[in-house]
Amino acid sequence: MPTELILPLDVPTREAARPLLKQLQGTVPWMKVGLQMFTAFGSDWVQEVADAGYKVFLDLKLHDIPNTVAKTIDSLAPLPISMLTLHTSGGKVMMTKAREAQAAANPQLLLLGVTVLTSFDAVELARVGCPDTPAQQVSRLARLGSEAGLQGFVCSPLEVADLRRDLPTGTQLVTPGVRPAGADHGDQSRVMTPADAARAGSTHIVVGRPIYQAPDPLSAAQAIRAELESVR
Ligand code: C5P
Repeated sequence: MPTELILPLDVPTREAARPLLKQLQGTVPWMKVGLQMFTAFGSDWVQEVADAGYKVFLDLKLHDIPNTVAKTIDSLAPLPISMLTLHTSGGKVMMTKAREAQAAANPQLLLLGVTVLTSFDAVELARVGCPDTPAQQVSRLARLGSEAGLQGFVCSPLEVADLRRDLPTGTQLVTPGVRPAGADHGDQSRVMTPADAARAGSTHIVVGRPIYQAPDPLSAAQAIRAELESVR
């Protein structure tokens, strides 16, 4: 199965997002709705994106006590979402309860663990009491998430090879930090091309600005799809 393409709808208004939804139908299978858009436009917006023909990745990065996270997953059950994120640092009990709630409320939903945010470096990790390197902490949290039953994680494409060694076969690895050759890196400092991320073992890549800021978003998305399909 070729690596799948996810577009993050990191635009400020629904009016800015709607032309993208129209143009990219049939080319981009997934749209990521983040905390900002979900907070501003809520469930109706998620429904609109799904009605436009997309699978929805709801990137809420849940992090709370086990009961609250499980109840939140129950509350999200009516929504047409196919991926949802939670913080693995919420702990094994929280992730286990989240997975139980997901299995009961929405068996098709893939719960994805977020490990160490890429905004963290070793200094910031030490400030919150973790003496290890980000790579060690990513590995620890991903293994913990896997033990709790999570079937996928969000990570940098540069972490995929190590995580593939740590995690069971079939684990879904969703990677932002991907840039087509020659594209502006923006604020992403460590990037891989779509083909390299696919070869490394990403099951899904998240690519935003190189598509929605392109003069022709459809051609940009088609080129990335073609690159992904060339790696099988
Ligand atoms: O525009 P760009 O391709 O950089 O967008 C990447 C998307 O992935 C954004 O929505 C960003 O918030 C998200 N993301 C990321 N790095 C992470 C986690 C999420 O870039 N570690």
